[in-house]
Amino acid sequence: AAAEKGGHDYFMLKEIQEQPQGVADTLIGHFAHGKIVLDEQRLHDQELREVDKVFVVACGSSYHAGLLAKYAIEHWTRLPVEVELASEFRYRDPVLDRSTLVVAISQSGETADTLEAVRHAKEQKARVLAICNTNGAQIPRESDAVLYTRTGPEIGVASTKAFLAQITANFLVGLALAQARGTKYPDEVAREFAELESMPKRVAQVLESADRVREIARQFAHVPTVLFLGRHVGYPVALEGALKLKELAYMHAEGFAAGELKHGPIALIEDGLPVFVVMPSPKGRAVLHSKLLSNIREIQARGARTIVIAEEGDDTVRPFADHLIEIPSAPTLYQPLLSTVPLQIFAAEVAQARGYDVDKPRNLAKSVTVE
Ligand code: G6P
Repeated sequence: AAAEKGGHDYFMLKEIQEQPQGVADTLIGHFAHGKIVLDEQRLHDQELREVDKVFVVACGSSYHAGLLAKYAIEHWTRLPVEVELASEFRYRDPVLDRSTLVVAISQSGETADTLEAVRHAKEQKARVLAICNTNGAQIPRESDAVLYTRTGPEIGVASTKAFLAQITANFLVGLALAQARGTKYPDEVAREFAELESMPKRVAQVLESADRVREIARQFAHVPTVLFLGRHVGYPVALEGALKLKELAYMHAEGFAAGELKHGPIALIEDGLPVFVVMPSPKGRAVLHSKLLSNIREIQARGARTIVIAEEGDDTVRPFADHLIEIPSAPTLYQPLLSTVPLQIFAAEVAQARGYDVDKPRNLAKSVTVE
């Protein structure tokens, strides 16, 4: 059993380490002759050109990956993208037709709510593309096309490597749409793909600083609450960081959009409260960076203990970070592939410090096949 876990105590810890490989493998074969290739048998450029709206449906961590898809797809394609929990989508009356592309994201490919969302979309004649980690699962079988995340079986109940692979797959969908619609030039698409191919190396660099994250986690192992703040793509990362901590450490954790701080969450800040802040790259939009910086100031002035994830060399955050976790530089859209990783490690370490089984958190199932 120890060998199966690659020398780790838990599958989840091994799966966290496998993330660079999962991202790299998910990209394999999807760029040929200067073009992004999604599912060549079943989804052609012509169909992608006809798309006028995108819906992303998913549950749990897959939903957070979906939230990130919106930033990339809208930015690259100028198509409207709606992201929705599968369980909400199907009981509304979503407006879909044959020019709608529904992207259903599911690691297992068996999640009941996501499957029902796929069926509903198909009844409305929408085209359905599954992003799935399990060959031949029900969701890809019932979808029009499939893009497999190739990160190998995920055993830990809380998703880690599948999440990074899903984000990667979403980028491929966004680039394929941009290419088909001509909203990006072929050389721009090629450049984005090359940038994506260089991400696994950076994910591996983040993993090298795991010890530092674990040391921080042990200091916070017995606090009652942890908050997570992020803006733009850092917001879904904050949600995912909070979800990981709930799932694994049974701790009260909440992720907030940093811009909402003044609309409520700031009332929660009190002396000693740990707050994670996901800083955007200082090389990205300056306004995003300066807004987050002022958020950290505000919460630190009210006694929060700040744990800041920031790009290496971003010295502006140092005075406001009680704990600083540095990640390599990356374009804004790709940063979540890096900033999520310390949050996974943090949650796993807190859970272990509390004596919990991180592979099998209480009350949770790997795949929720009943509604
Ligand atoms: C469960 C798992 C989560 C997962 C979610 C969606 O809640 O514990 O880790 O994100 O299901 O699963 P799916 O297989 O559809 O991605």
